[in-house]
Amino acid sequence: MVRLDFATVLLAVATVSQALKQNTPPIVPGAYIVEYENDQDTKAFVNKLGPNKVSLRKDLRFRLFKGASIQFKDTKNAEEQAAKVAKLPTVKRMYPVRRYPSPQHTVLSTGDAAQEFVKRQQGGNDTFSTHLMTQVNKFRDAGITGQGIKVAVIDTGIDWQHPALGGCFGPGCLVSYGSDLVGDAYRGTEGNTQPVPDDDPMDCNGHGTHVAGTIAAQTNNPFGIIGAATGVTLGAYRVFGCSGDVPNDILIAAYNMAYEAGSDIITASIGGASGWSEDPWAAVVSRIVENGVPCVVSAGNDGATGVFYASTAANGKRVTAIASTENILTPALLSSGSVEVDGKKDSFGFTGGQPTNWDGVKLPLWTVSYNTADPAHGCDPYPADTPDLSKYIVLIRRGTCTFVQKVENAAAKGAKYVMFYNNVAGTISVAAIVEGVQGIAMAPADTGVSWVKALEAGKKVEVTMSNPSSAPKFLTYFNNPDTQGFSSPFTSWGPTFEVEVKPQFSTPGGSILSTYPRAAGSYAVLSGTSMACPLAAAVYALMMNVRGTKDPKTIENLLSATAKPNLFRRDGVSPGFLAPVVQQGGGLIQAWDAAHATTLLSVSSISFNDTENLRAKQEFTISNTGKSSVTYNLSHVGAGTAWTFQRPASIDPVPLGGLELTADFASLAFSPSTFTIPAGQRKIVTVTVTPPNIDGGRLPVYSGYIAINGSDSSALSLPYIGVVGSLHSRPVLDKEETLIARAKDQSNMAVPANTTFVLPPAGFSNDTSYRNRTDFPKLVIILGFGSPLIRVDVVPVTNCSIAARNAKTVWGTKTLGQPEGFPVYYQPRGKLEFAWNGKLSDGNFAPAGVYKFSIRALRVFGDENKAEEFDVTETIPFRLKYAKQTPKRRGMVVEDAAVEARQVDEQCEKDEKTVER
Ligand SMILES: *[C@@H]1O[C@H](CO)[C@@H](O)[C@H](O)[C@H]1NC(C)=O
Ligand SMILES: *[C@@H]1O[C@H](CO)[C@@H](O)[C@H](O)[C@H]1NC(C)=O
Ligand SMILES: *[C@@H]1O[C@H](CO)[C@@H](O)[C@H](O)[C@H]1NC(C)=O
Ligand SMILES: *[C@@H]1O[C@H](CO)[C@@H](O)[C@H](O)[C@H]1NC(C)=O
Ligand SMILES: *[C@@H]1O[C@H](CO)[C@@H](O)[C@H](O)[C@H]1NC(C)=O
Ligand SMILES: *[C@@H]1O[C@H](CO)[C@@H](O)[C@H](O)[C@H]1NC(C)=O
Ligand SMILES: *[C@@H]1O[C@H](CO)[C@@H](O)[C@H](O)[C@H]1NC(C)=O
Repeated sequence: MVRLDFATVLLAVATVSQALKQNTPPIVPGAYIVEYENDQDTKAFVNKLGPNKVSLRKDLRFRLFKGASIQFKDTKNAEEQAAKVAKLPTVKRMYPVRRYPSPQHTVLSTGDAAQEFVKRQQGGNDTFSTHLMTQVNKFRDAGITGQGIKVAVIDTGIDWQHPALGGCFGPGCLVSYGSDLVGDAYRGTEGNTQPVPDDDPMDCNGHGTHVAGTIAAQTNNPFGIIGAATGVTLGAYRVFGCSGDVPNDILIAAYNMAYEAGSDIITASIGGASGWSEDPWAAVVSRIVENGVPCVVSAGNDGATGVFYASTAANGKRVTAIASTENILTPALLSSGSVEVDGKKDSFGFTGGQPTNWDGVKLPLWTVSYNTADPAHGCDPYPADTPDLSKYIVLIRRGTCTFVQKVENAAAKGAKYVMFYNNVAGTISVAAIVEGVQGIAMAPADTGVSWVKALEAGKKVEVTMSNPSSAPKFLTYFNNPDTQGFSSPFTSWGPTFEVEVKPQFSTPGGSILSTYPRAAGSYAVLSGTSMACPLAAAVYALMMNVRGTKDPKTIENLLSATAKPNLFRRDGVSPGFLAPVVQQGGGLIQAWDAAHATTLLSVSSISFNDTENLRAKQEFTISNTGKSSVTYNLSHVGAGTAWTFQRPASIDPVPLGGLELTADFASLAFSPSTFTIPAGQRKIVTVTVTPPNIDGGRLPVYSGYIAINGSDSSALSLPYIGVVGSLHSRPVLDKEETLIARAKDQSNMAVPANTTFVLPPAGFSNDTSYRNRTDFPKLVIILGFGSPLIRVDVVPVTNCSIAARNAKTVWGTKTLGQPEGFPVYYQPRGKLEFAWNGKLSDGNFAPAGVYKFSIRALRVFGDENKAEEFDVTETIPFRLKYAKQTPKRRGMVVEDAAVEARQVDEQCEKDEKTVER
């Protein structure tokens, strides 16, 4: 996933409502993934269900998964029908089809103090910054490139015609296998849900091409970009159209195809908020790992949401979740222009703004003052003796007043072109639409300052501009002292709701330079855990070359044990303790150390679970595979403990903006703690935890590392986590914030009790001709913590209603049933919005009348058969009516048993009112 909302992340205020998001991957109505009990013919299976009832979405018969995804044609009774199918003896499990959003990307162009860096690396040693950070350069310098390893990339495709990505597709090419599962036009949502697969996984989005370059870009490029494993072959499984979503049945197919094609590693930078490993996509990925193929998945970009916000499929069991670290240098691709200072030619980099009519502009620079430290440069009207500025590009320092103000002052003297120079590191794209002005751009601070100095010295500075979008790009590296090497603020935090350790380890994903589709500029700097994950995939390939094993567990254990944990850092400040394991996993990968370690651990991490399920005493094995005996010494280093909730009894989680960490560490005891292991032998070690003595009501997540130092100067660290308190007794439902709003109201303002909602007639929910006259009630559920199951009951309020007479009683609640779409399973923290068209899960419509919703959310580790394991709340009552059918609809068959009931009900209400009088 790519960071889209970096600014939002940085600016995130510590309010709960802002931290809560609604990003549960949506369900595709009426669509299900069926897993067969035994292999069977899919055509025959669908035929048996009735081709008039069910259509086949995708045949999913693979070596590791036998099934199909199907679509009930009549979504009206889909759930009822699905329940029947699930009971067939030939069916093992059924899952709803969910959609995952297409990864987005932003080209970044800002950083810190400018500094020239190595531009070309061909021939010399590898100095690519992300490789230096992870020891990947050492492999390249030693000639190890992942030769012979097949890496499958499940993404938006790959621009295989890109010269740095081999330029061809098929056997013998860098991108040697794979296919397009969906086609360009596919969006996965209404109007475009029909995949049109073909053989060519060409990328029309950009994300997959960037990912591929991080793994295997060849050195024939102008920016010194090097893939971490240039010798691998890539498989491109394209699961997105040019934009839109991917449903999990396509993802399941892609993973199985990649597995069956003999891939040695499968990488995917795709995900959605979850925290639960039960997602069928995650389950399929787990199964592939169990069968010996490592799968790395990006950890997610929801760092701002705080702990317990793992993303699927990264949160699957045995799936390796990759977190992101900030690059030690921030690369920026600037448009290049040329400049002549007293006849001496040079080039410079800039970022185009709005307007952007720069093509062919060649003019001297002019500036209103030579003070390069003026905080408010150009904010005042220009002096009377200012020359006609239409003959110049006006150079203005950024700061104090608005860009528009500065441009207006210049334009008042005839200026058509303005070049800002920055007052901080990097450049930004400035928009300032002012009459008469044709072009706006920005140059880095040091470029601007050098020009002003030249002007001050009486030199003539003439600039030749080019069209910023088509101009050749100029690579500049900015230093990044505040964030370099620390966890990216956007990287998602674990653990899962089952207290599984997530993420596993980190690689650089913040400000990554790589290849991009030729049509979109060929190279780009992007940020996100999406950019981190492929580097980890490449490291797996290098490890396979060196160690000769492809075993997922062995490689994960080695990478975790040798990774380097770093200090916690936020807003440029470190509190002096390590970042929590639930943020950085084992730490930043040190690939060379992992490839050459002779001490092996039997696990990659340890979870002590919460207090209620505390497994305080656990064992792991240390193996000495070296040639001589080694004396080991075990010790403990605590990492920051992160609070989950703001207050003990509250349901308000702590988002990153208000993140509090404490230095209350657990204490660990080892038995034995110092021992010698002869060459080729192993030793079982017992570790016993005493969790920190702090308030379990706020569900603090503690973590740290077991340091294993050997007399052979080996130094390993084994990450562990635990939770103080009880997940099971923790309320999940925010009763105060759960409300009814109007579906048309984006702001979710609660409506008063007994608000009337006029719905379109049953069966016409979609009909736009009713839109102006109708509005749906929107149920807004706020979950302060994840819930494995949410049940909603439609409760009739008036006794008069025939609905009330038909209602059943479930757990003491009178109910007409659940709205169509409920129950829902495995929800992450956050907001769940549901607009109701009056339809119930049995396919009937609720008659007109007064209702309220009763909401039950099951607690973590709760038993769904026990009412007391649910949090319960009720909404205010609201009145439901159906609009009268418009004349043109009369005479059409309306599949609405409720119409008649409505009339009866309305009469009943009238009677009731009469009685009241
Ligand atoms: C390149 O790396 C190799 C292996 O680490 C080293 O021996 C050599 O000195 C390096 N060369 C340069 C020019 O740095
Ligand atoms: C923690 O305990 C719960 C309840 O027994 C269990 O479901 C879960 O798998 C445990 N987590 C781990 C990591 O062992
Ligand atoms: C092991 O590490 C501990 C903690 O740093 C230290 O006090 C102890 O002296 C070490 N023991 C040996 C045998 O190195
Ligand atoms: C173990 O090794 C690491 C890395 O060299 C070092 O920072 C740490 O102090 C060592 N711990 C002990 C207890 O010696
Ligand atoms: C809403 O309507 C119900 C049923 O007509 C009635 O019992 C209740 O008092 C009303 N509530 C409010 C707040 O008006
Ligand atoms: C809404 O319209 C779409 C497209 O015509 C259809 O597939 C869907 O079933 C309709 N939904 C409802 C609730 O009628
Ligand atoms: C809905 O209202 C808008 C604004 O009043 C009007 O322009 C539009 O034609 C109406 N649409 C229908 C379907 O009546």
